Amino acid sequence: MAAFLQTNIRMSSIKIVPGKYSALTDHYRTPCRVRCAASSPGKKRFNIALLPGDGIGPEVIAVAKTVLQKAGSLEGLEFDFQEMPVGGAALDLVGVPMPEETFTAAKQSDAILLGAIGGYKWDKNEKHLRPEMALFYLRRDLKVFANLRPATVLPELVDASTLKKEVAEGVDMMIVRELTGGIYFGEPRGIKINENGEEVGISTEIYAAHEIDRIARVAFETARKRRGKLCSVDKANVLDASILWRKRVTALASEYPDVELSHMYVDNAAMQLIRDPKQFDTIVTNNIFGDILSDEASMITGSIGMLPSASLSESGPGLFEPIHGSAPDIAGQDKANPLATILSAAMLLKYGLGEEKAAKRIEDAVADALSKGFRTGDIYSPGNKLVGCKEMGEEVLKSVDSKVPATV
Ligand code: IPM
Ligand code: MG
Repeated sequence: MAAFLQTNIRMSSIKIVPGKYSALTDHYRTPCRVRCAASSPGKKRFNIALLPGDGIGPEVIAVAKTVLQKAGSLEGLEFDFQEMPVGGAALDLVGVPMPEETFTAAKQSDAILLGAIGGYKWDKNEKHLRPEMALFYLRRDLKVFANLRPATVLPELVDASTLKKEVAEGVDMMIVRELTGGIYFGEPRGIKINENGEEVGISTEIYAAHEIDRIARVAFETARKRRGKLCSVDKANVLDASILWRKRVTALASEYPDVELSHMYVDNAAMQLIRDPKQFDTIVTNNIFGDILSDEASMITGSIGMLPSASLSESGPGLFEPIHGSAPDIAGQDKANPLATILSAAMLLKYGLGEEKAAKRIEDAVADALSKGFRTGDIYSPGNKLVGCKEMGEEVLKSVDSKVPATV
């Protein structure tokens, strides 16, 4: 990457469909800057696509961008950011949730940082014109099948958890969610008329063996780097797709003798997460169960506003985003918690660019700002200092600057 010498070919080669993108503002048309390692000797340059999206997305992305820039610069990294509209923001601009230009910029970047998608305003749109469709296109077309969702209870936030201190304390798990298959994408799907003339809604849970194997491998590798425990969550007592899931995951276990594999039905897993979350190290599960369990796990940590995620493919850029939504009720009020997006930027550095030191700087800075008592509303408890999104970002930034280089 450091030897990257490239001019603005990428943007100019994008096909602009007449009319379709004409509403894209100059702001979004800012061309990629020349990526030229020679201009800053010894610096590595990366091209980052920023997709702020809707609701609180732009606020948290603005804050995370400055933190990413700062942590990167302290480790000799430079970033070229390209900001593009997605979701409702893109619908308002050009009438589609995922403009081709946005996808191309994302696809050609080294990593993508996304804010949030959706809002009341577009809730009544037809399905193909809903903002969330942008997420599915991104996931599917970038082939980011492996979604890593860590849920860690930071010592500073243990009181923010709804669980008793002794239950929540020390929770540190990683949910590996399959992201491009299962019921989210399975065919047949849709709302049809059956033989009695009645409407039926159809969604199909379907997994091919190779889809299970590749997510299971990511999970085994992840568990291997953590505490060596992997729990595969399925519904193999009912669903055929889960029966195959369990069979394939079990078959792979012999390749990872250092990982202790267990299986759990999803209903039990939902209960165990609340009863004794510390029993979990790495969880691997399908798309829909991963969606639900990761929201549940987030509550153990105190707030969904704390949880980052990484979506990775076999090759190509990864997609990094907080797991919270667009929170339209607090959008534009400087109330959002930017920490999940800041921590997503840390995941971007670690998993997307392989820059672990810069990632650790961000993680340490977040812990530092929290230990100084700064809290947004969602994680506030008496005795701490209530701050808004921007101020929380400034505090993290100060900590990135002042903390001694971390050891990875
Ligand atoms: C998530 C979200 C999405 C999902 C929604 C917004 C479509 O809940 O990333 O967890 O269901 O995957
Ligand atoms: Mg979800």
